Amino acid sequence: MHPLLSLRARTSTSSAIRDLLKLTEQPGILSLAGGLPAAASFPTTQLAEQAVMILSDNGPYGPQALQYGRTEGVTELRELLADLSGANPANVIVTTGSQQALDLISRCLVDPGDVVVVESPSYIGALQAMRAYGPAFEPVPGDSDGLDTTLLEQRLLAGLRPTMCYVVSNFANPTGATMSLQRRHHLLDLAKRYDFLILEDDPYGDLRFRGDSLPSIRDLPGAAGHVALARTTSKTVAPGLRIGWAVLPDWLVDPIVVAKQAVDLHTSTLSQYLVLGLLSDREAHAARVRETTARYGRHAEALVSALQRHVGDAIELAPFDGGMFLWGHMTERSIDTTTMLTAALANGVAYVPGAAFFAQRPDETEPAPHSFLRMSYATLVPDQFDEAARRMGVAINSM
Ligand SMILES: Cc1ncc(COP(=O)(O)O)c(C=O)c1O
Repeated sequence: MHPLLSLRARTSTSSAIRDLLKLTEQPGILSLAGGLPAAASFPTTQLAEQAVMILSDNGPYGPQALQYGRTEGVTELRELLADLSGANPANVIVTTGSQQALDLISRCLVDPGDVVVVESPSYIGALQAMRAYGPAFEPVPGDSDGLDTTLLEQRLLAGLRPTMCYVVSNFANPTGATMSLQRRHHLLDLAKRYDFLILEDDPYGDLRFRGDSLPSIRDLPGAAGHVALARTTSKTVAPGLRIGWAVLPDWLVDPIVVAKQAVDLHTSTLSQYLVLGLLSDREAHAARVRETTARYGRHAEALVSALQRHVGDAIELAPFDGGMFLWGHMTERSIDTTTMLTAALANGVAYVPGAAFFAQRPDETEPAPHSFLRMSYATLVPDQFDEAARRMGVAINSM
């Protein structure tokens, strides 16, 4: 570690698991590890048409599409995103992916030592963004209905005073769980009573292939001052455009704009105009999202049935109704999924070991992180799932 590096850079080292995951990108590996959206769903033709139109001299935006822009985002895009989110455009900030919203919100809320409640397990990228600001993480276990708000309430009654609570409300990464309506109401009630911010991260909510959608926590009555909602076009348009957005409480808008100014001045103007063009045709966008969702539904079915054929009950799968991930639990308690990854890679298949998603070791009453694994069905094509599951079966049998 170079002595000139700041304390923050020195403490933000890559985890052993992240290093292991680099190996999953080797040729010949069927990877269930990455969370890459299906490239076949990217609207390349439509984006190419938009790009030509936007960049033409007689286009509606002219050179403005390549000019510096406002930190808050392109006004027409903010209006459109606000409309999609049922919010006031003044509360919407366009961000460079929803990842940037997670970083900026943490930057504006978290001082070193502040308590941040996270569902256990949680999205690694959020833990990484928050960790940079030195929080004391308070992991609260979740189940198929999301973070256990009764447990959180007990801890609040016992004196816990968080600044922020981070949840992925729909089809969470990694568990696939969706927070129930009752828990959404309960969490909001707790946020109001104990005065903390709910950071609601919802990148997957549009990708529901079963059941009915639930209102976001931010849409519940009286939520606007207590919830910051992070959303993205990464899973419904294309992640490389890096267009996300945050719907913020009034009191958080100015601090976030000032923080964003320091980070990147503004999100790519060209990407914003591309997304504006694509989303302006609401029907065509909705049809593409339906198609992507149906694709993931087919992928999920193919992977689940392939796992049933080749792995049987060695992996118990958590319930899920959409999104991109399967969360599995090894029924053979002695199997450590971090150790098993080496065997899986040797057999040409990859997944993410569960331990990567836990902010801290849970207590003894909870299942051990090493007994879980995350598999994504988004990236591979359906005729690869049978072989991927067969290789998983070989890896498990070698343990
Ligand atoms: C739960 C969650 N939040 C946020 C992100 C960041 O997405 P993006 O920055 O592409 O919008 C991801 C990406 O996988 C995610 O899984």
